[in-house]
Amino acid sequence: MVKVAVCGAAGGIGQPLSLLLKLNPLVSELSLYDIANSAGVAADLSHISTPAIVKGYAPASRDDLEALGSALTGCEVVIIPAGVPRKPGMTRDDLFKINAGIVRSLVAGVAKHCPRAVVCIISNPVNATVPIAAEELKKHGVFDPKKLFGVTTLDSVRAETFLAELIGAKDPEVLRGEVAIVGGHSGDTIVPLLSKSSKHASQIAKLPQETLKKYIHRVQFGGDEVVQAKNGAGSATLSMAHAGYRFAELIIQAKSGKSVTRSRSFTDAAYVYLPGIEGGKQVSQTYGVDYFALPVRLARDGSAESVDASVLKGVTSQERELLKIAAAGVGKSVVQGTNFVVGAK
Ligand code: NAI
Repeated sequence: MVKVAVCGAAGGIGQPLSLLLKLNPLVSELSLYDIANSAGVAADLSHISTPAIVKGYAPASRDDLEALGSALTGCEVVIIPAGVPRKPGMTRDDLFKINAGIVRSLVAGVAKHCPRAVVCIISNPVNATVPIAAEELKKHGVFDPKKLFGVTTLDSVRAETFLAELIGAKDPEVLRGEVAIVGGHSGDTIVPLLSKSSKHASQIAKLPQETLKKYIHRVQFGGDEVVQAKNGAGSATLSMAHAGYRFAELIIQAKSGKSVTRSRSFTDAAYVYLPGIEGGKQVSQTYGVDYFALPVRLARDGSAESVDASVLKGVTSQERELLKIAAAGVGKSVVQGTNFVVGAK
């Protein structure tokens, strides 16, 4: 049984994500932290007849750090979807100024109150907020690269759904894990490696080049479809809650000793600090970046045991170009995030 915290629990992602976590019988306690309405969300979810005990926490004032401390104490998994979402015309980078400080303060709380927890960052721009989290944890002397994930699962979910449409697969679930998504988590830093699809390679090969190009663009910029359709009311929340839960569920299962078979194989990709994880160092050297999204294999404590660098081998020349673009974009965001904590050099 695992105690899980959601920071930003009353938001568009936080609420449905907390609902999904409440439905998981492996969750013993759910700590819902938000600066607004966490008590309401907690009271509502607490009436659902599943084992997880649900508690809401909110700071009494801007300087109150006690509520965060109480929320995080004893947590083994911390999921962070706190911050502002994109509005039409905004890029994920526009979010940086607001979300950088939010993520930093929440991760400082993790460092103090549950330094051994597995931390999953959803708040955008993930390419920069994860380096912020890493630097903040380093500052407190508790950084474990294996326990820090940028959640990029929504890119995989979209890649599977959109590919299912193209090849006429009625149930996109059959494509789960079929498209390795690597790189980062914004626009052209997202790289779907279709050449790595084994089970559906023949169907993919039949698709015209133009269709494949449009597909890659749709996976990279699929978030814009939601931002535009919501017309000022935010970005993806429900699909993101599903995606965030899909990744968190793997960690919870690994920690609970359930479905060990699955946790022993490479799972969805996540954005991680490469030099600290087996298989990552060489990717870091080849692409000149310290962070990249790659499929991860989870250890039994829910941490990253290794990353699957083999997906980057034998890619097509077009994919190689996309990877170069992604690495350049990721590199810039990493500098931005790192400098936010350590100061520009
Ligand atoms: P939202 O505005 O609906 O919810 C954010 C929540 O965070 C609010 O309830 C707010 O009160 C809370 N919050 C703000 N400052 C806080 C603090 N200091 N401590 C605790 N809680 C705080 O936003 P939404 O739609 O839920 O998005 C949240 C974040 O997730 C955004 O940064 C968004 O860009 C990102 N996102 C990430 C995706 C991914 O694939 N990783 C996909 C979609 C969105």
